[in-house]
Amino acid sequence: MRSPIWHPFTQHGLDEPTPLVSRAEGAALYTADGRRIIDAISSWWVTTHGHRNPRIMAAIADQAGRMDQIIFAGWTHEPAEALARALVEMMPAPLAHVFYSDSGSTSVEVAIKMALGYWLNRGEPRHRILTLEHGYHGDTIGGMSVGARGVYNRAYTPLLFDVDTIPFPAGDGRNTLDALEAMCRHEPAALIVEPLVLGAGGMLFYEPAILAEMRAICARAGVLFIADEVMSGWGRTGTLLACDQAGIVPDILCLSKGLTGGAIPLAVTMTTAEIFDAHRSTDRAQMLFHSSSYSANPIACAAGLANLEIWRDEPVLDRVAMLGRRQQERLARLENVRNARILGTIAACELGSGTGDYLAAIGPGLLAFFRERDVLLRPMGDTVYVMPPYCISEPELDAVYEALAEAAMAFWSPTSTDRGAGHCPAQPL
Ligand SMILES: Cc1ncc(COP(=O)(O)O)c(C=O)c1O
Repeated sequence: MRSPIWHPFTQHGLDEPTPLVSRAEGAALYTADGRRIIDAISSWWVTTHGHRNPRIMAAIADQAGRMDQIIFAGWTHEPAEALARALVEMMPAPLAHVFYSDSGSTSVEVAIKMALGYWLNRGEPRHRILTLEHGYHGDTIGGMSVGARGVYNRAYTPLLFDVDTIPFPAGDGRNTLDALEAMCRHEPAALIVEPLVLGAGGMLFYEPAILAEMRAICARAGVLFIADEVMSGWGRTGTLLACDQAGIVPDILCLSKGLTGGAIPLAVTMTTAEIFDAHRSTDRAQMLFHSSSYSANPIACAAGLANLEIWRDEPVLDRVAMLGRRQQERLARLENVRNARILGTIAACELGSGTGDYLAAIGPGLLAFFRERDVLLRPMGDTVYVMPPYCISEPELDAVYEALAEAAMAFWSPTSTDRGAGHCPAQPL
C-alpha cells in the first residue's frame, strides 16, 4: 500500500524511492533494509555535532522525565530560563532578549513583526522590508515574501507582500551597497539578510567586508538589520555566527537548526533592549502579538542548553576548522566541476553545464546517483554542496567525495551555461 504521507519539497509524481530510515548515529543514517547512508548534508543543515549526540540525548531524556509541554504565555520554566541566560551570555552583548518559537521560518516571521512593531510603537510606522537577491528565509508567507521569488513560490505569489530587493554582490559589492544606500533613503523598516552565505539560493558566498558595510549603511540610516543565521549559525561558516567574521552585531538575530544540535525543533529570535523596550508598556496593544503552541518546549530547551554546554566545554570550532581543511583538500582535487567554493564547513560546486538552476534537468539523476552510492547529498538543481555534521570521519568524507567525483565525471557537459557572477568564492580554490 502506498504511504499516505505528503513529503516536503517532493514531487510524488516522479515516484522516486523514499528510503525508510530506522536509526541515526554520528554522520550515518541506517535504513530498515540494512543500508548505511552517510549524511553529507546534516539532514537539511540541522545536525551539527552528529546524530544522537550523547549529551543532547541525555538532556532530552532527563527533561522528558520531568516535564513535557507547558503554556509559555504568562508562564515560564527553568529549561527556557537557563537557555535564554546562556544564549544572552554567548551571543554578542546588545542581544539581550530571547523570543522562542519552533522553526527557522517562524523565527523570521517574529523578526519581521518585531521590526514593524518597533516602528509602530515609536509612532513612526514603517512597513518596507529590504532583502538581498537570491535570499531564502523559509516557506511561511512572510518568509517567502522576504525571499527570492521563483519556482519555489510561484503559486503563492499573489499572497506575498512587496519588498525591495538589493542585488547580490558582484566583485567588490559596490552594486549591492549603492542600491542599499539608495533604498535606505526611503525609510524602510529593516533589511533582512543571510550573512555570508545564501543557502537555498544556491550556496552563494559573499565577503565579510561587504556584510560589514551593509550593516554600517543600515546603522547610519537608522534601518534595522536582521541577520537570518538559521543556516549559517552554530559554526557552519567557520565561526559561531557568520556575522562574527564581519565584526558586526545585528539588531535582530534569527537562530534555529543547530540551536539544539539539530536534535529537536526550536528557534529563537534575539534582539536588543531598544527593540524590546519599544514593546514594553502598560498598553497591552503594544505587545508583540506572536505565539506558537509549542513556544519554548521544555524538552527542546533542554536540548538547546546541552548544545550550548557542548559549545562551552568542547573544541567545536577546532572541529569545524578541521572539517573545513579536510573538505578544502578534497574539493581542490575534484575535476569536471564548476565554481568550486568553500566557506567554513560548506563546500559547493556546479556539475554538468552548471546552470545553477533549481530545476536543472540533471537534478533528479544526481539525486538518484548519490542515493545509489549510499550518500545523502541533495543537489539543488546542478549545484551540489557538502555540509556534513562536524563529527564526520575521514573515511566517510572520502566516500562522499568519491561519489561526488564520479558524479562530476558521469554528468560532465563541456558546454557551460554558468551564471557566473553570483559565485564569489570565500576561499578561492
Ligand atoms: C536562512 C534560512 N532561513 C530560514 C529557514 C527556514 O527554516 P525552517 O525550515 O526551520 O522553517 C531556512 C531553512 O533552510 C534557512 O536556510
